Amino acid sequence: MDLNIKNICCIGAGYVGGPTMTMMASKCPDLIFNVVDINEKRIASWNHKDLLELPIFEPGLEELITKTRNRNLFFSSNLKKAIESADIIFISVNTPTKKKGLGAGKSSDLKWVEASAREVAKYARGHTIVVEKSTLPVRTAEVIEKILNSAKRNSKREEISFSVLSNPEFLAEGTAIKDLENPDRVLIGGNNKNAMIALSNIYRVWVPEEKILFTNIWSSELAKLTSNAFLAQRISSINAISAICEVTGADVREVSRAIGKDSRIGSKFLDSGPGFGGSCFKKDILNLVYLAEYFGLTEVANFWESVVKINNWHQKRISEIVVKKLFGTVSNKKLVILGFAFKANTNDTRESAAITICKNLLNEGANLLIHDPKVNASQIKNDLNINPKKSVENSNSSLNEKSGNWEFSKTIHNIELFKDAYAVIILTEWEDFKKLNWTDIAKKMVAPAWVFDSRSIVNIDEVRDAGLSLWRIGDGLEDQ
Ligand code: UDX
Ligand code: UDX
Repeated sequence: MDLNIKNICCIGAGYVGGPTMTMMASKCPDLIFNVVDINEKRIASWNHKDLLELPIFEPGLEELITKTRNRNLFFSSNLKKAIESADIIFISVNTPTKKKGLGAGKSSDLKWVEASAREVAKYARGHTIVVEKSTLPVRTAEVIEKILNSAKRNSKREEISFSVLSNPEFLAEGTAIKDLENPDRVLIGGNNKNAMIALSNIYRVWVPEEKILFTNIWSSELAKLTSNAFLAQRISSINAISAICEVTGADVREVSRAIGKDSRIGSKFLDSGPGFGGSCFKKDILNLVYLAEYFGLTEVANFWESVVKINNWHQKRISEIVVKKLFGTVSNKKLVILGFAFKANTNDTRESAAITICKNLLNEGANLLIHDPKVNASQIKNDLNINPKKSVENSNSSLNEKSGNWEFSKTIHNIELFKDAYAVIILTEWEDFKKLNWTDIAKKMVAPAWVFDSRSIVNIDEVRDAGLSLWRIGDGLEDQ
């Protein structure tokens, strides 16, 4: 079997496929990387001369794109050409939770993975290594393998053959480039040793040998789901403790610091916030729940599902606190929302806690002024499913008739934004929000004015000295 690797293809130019291929292309200048996507607009953005037009915002990405694009990294919609020439094909398409049918609400919709496998089956030549990059339910590789093998049987083309590997991505958005450059581990699951070595040779260029792990294919798929489930579980755990802190007088930051010093627990991923978001945590846990239910492991399913349930409850809890603090009503009150992305340093809003919290506040009749440094108004409109204020009459809103409205501000450097606001609600931990001049802001707001800090980023003395009331997540000693 000739495993001389020269051409790489990646199907799916999203938050995972785009940065991952860019990093590989920068590390392996002798290999050719073709990133393809059915979304032509997205491809045009990847190819845009103005790097601010790249479809995703990720610190450090622009520099790498400048170095690699049109040198050995190419973005296009020509799937056929990219597949035909590929020795390795990464599948990095989206796998959202199924909305209807068998497994609805829990299992992943694999239609895009299946469609990609069929395209690969149609156009591949010679021996092709097919790599699952998307996070998938356990045993998806089997589906891919079946599709590829039936194509092989039906093919009248020259001899074609496939090896399917699982190589899950562990990058976190906002630190993707750092994570790709210096991964904790690279996981390669499969049963064809030659194919596994061929794939690992790419990583070996910059990743130390001991960080590259070989496993069987199911372990690799399950390890990815389990990693995300454990991480999400930590967030739900600390958020649950934040609620206890608030009613008992403890401070969740102090609790986190204290438990994080235990080397068995570790200090990372213990920041209480408005609830976890992002495209992976909820979806992957629900996959695990579905898997456990399928095998009759009801207790296991319930255990993991509670991580998601607590997260939903926690997001609702925060919007309820805002309403309670503002004398039980936010109807017609202006509230300034700072941050809409699910975390800082990304323009991604998938599953962002801000969506649920803003929707709840709109349902209570609030008028929201929303600012995020990287998320644009049209994305917010999609997420809230309601048009901004100026075009409210055209809205096909799902809100009730007394619901409030929202508008967007591209900048935060205009003090008039805070004029007549009853509260400022911080939902994403952007650096910009740490530098606000609370004394100036307080003068514009309606007293008693509130700051709700769900990310523990404000300087509490500055806020209090400005005469503002402060609520912080998990702070039992907050202003009453
Ligand atoms: C995706 C998966 O959602 C996630 O489970 C996995 O861990 C990594 O890959 P992400 O890159 O963040 O995550 O998704 P997204 O930004 O939505 O990108 C997927 C891309 O695939 C989209 O640009 C979409 O147009 C493209 N796609 C989808 C195809 O090119 N072909 C298809 O058939 C379907
Ligand atoms: C996650 C995993 O970290 C990554 O390994 C996997 O490949 C994809 O899923 P991502 O969703 O991009 O990455 O971001 P992550 O940094 O994990 O944050 C997820 C959510 O948890 C965010 O909403 C974040 O704000 C929240 N979070 C994280 C906290 O509330 N507190 C913390 O201490 C850490």
